[in-house]
Amino acid sequence: MAGRVEAVGKDVTKFQPGDDVFGDISGSGWGGFAEYVCAREDTLTAKPAGMSFDEAAAMPQAGVLGLSGVRALGVQAGHNVLINGAGGGAGTFAVQIAKHFGAEVTGVDSGIKLEVMRSVGADHVIDYTQEDFTKNGQRYDLILDMAAHHSTFDYKRALAPEGRYLMEGGATGRIFQTLLLGPLISIFGRKKMSILMLRPNRGLDLLVELYEAGAVKPVIDRRFPLNEGADALRYFGAQQTRGKIVITM
Ligand SMILES: NC(=O)c1ccc[n+]([C@@H]2O[C@H](COP(=O)([O-])OP(=O)(O)OC[C@H]3O[C@@H](n4cnc5c(N)ncnc54)[C@H](OP(=O)(O)O)[C@@H]3O)[C@@H](O)[C@H]2O)c1
Repeated sequence: MAGRVEAVGKDVTKFQPGDDVFGDISGSGWGGFAEYVCAREDTLTAKPAGMSFDEAAAMPQAGVLGLSGVRALGVQAGHNVLINGAGGGAGTFAVQIAKHFGAEVTGVDSGIKLEVMRSVGADHVIDYTQEDFTKNGQRYDLILDMAAHHSTFDYKRALAPEGRYLMEGGATGRIFQTLLLGPLISIFGRKKMSILMLRPNRGLDLLVELYEAGAVKPVIDRRFPLNEGADALRYFGAQQTRGKIVITM
């Protein structure tokens, strides 16, 4: 969420009333669909003047998820990276950040998201409803997975000989499979497979720097007023959202 500080507790030193802030408040009990929220000081970051409240609200969780994945994989210039679920919230951030680090990026998502993946810099795009990237013979140095639906062995096959796979989201069964098999595959072979758990707000400062440098811009598909919050969730659930939706007030 993003907003302006109305009041602070007596021990707060970082902010004062009137400051513009944003952050992932999942560690403060969630509750962002509201005119007023109460959050711990350490979950908030000063909003840069040039960043709109809409952009700031779209950034903390999806942006940090995208950034954390790209950093954990050690994306560098020359890497051939595939991002699965690249047209969604975290994916659109991850594509921009991986491109900023110099990688060649393939984005995978549904047909209606091909254009948004290209618009954030993906060099190649794949519609997962038409083509299975784990079976097309291509091999990737790094795979960042926001939407795991394939088996661990399918992903392993799509990796280059010393490739690395990182899961950030997906079907529950696939998460358990990677939790179980990922360490074994990583110990007994040269390919590495693991899962990343989000640390809320970790790296948000770097994300702000990337935003201010023009390297990252949140993709906002639609804005909904607070009283249409239910419509916003219906829209999101209908698998239409390119990037993020934002509740405004
Ligand atoms: N690791 C953590 O600690 C942590 C923390 C927070 C969130 N998450 C998870 O991280 C994931 C990404 O978050 P997000 O905000 O980016 O979600 P999102 O906006 O829903 O993006 C996910 C994208 O994946 C696409 N997708 C669905 N099935 C796919 C498939 N089989 N192949 C390729 N793409 C597919 C979706 O498109 P369509 O559905 O339209 O096809 C959507 O564009 C979510 O699963 C979320 O629950 C993880």
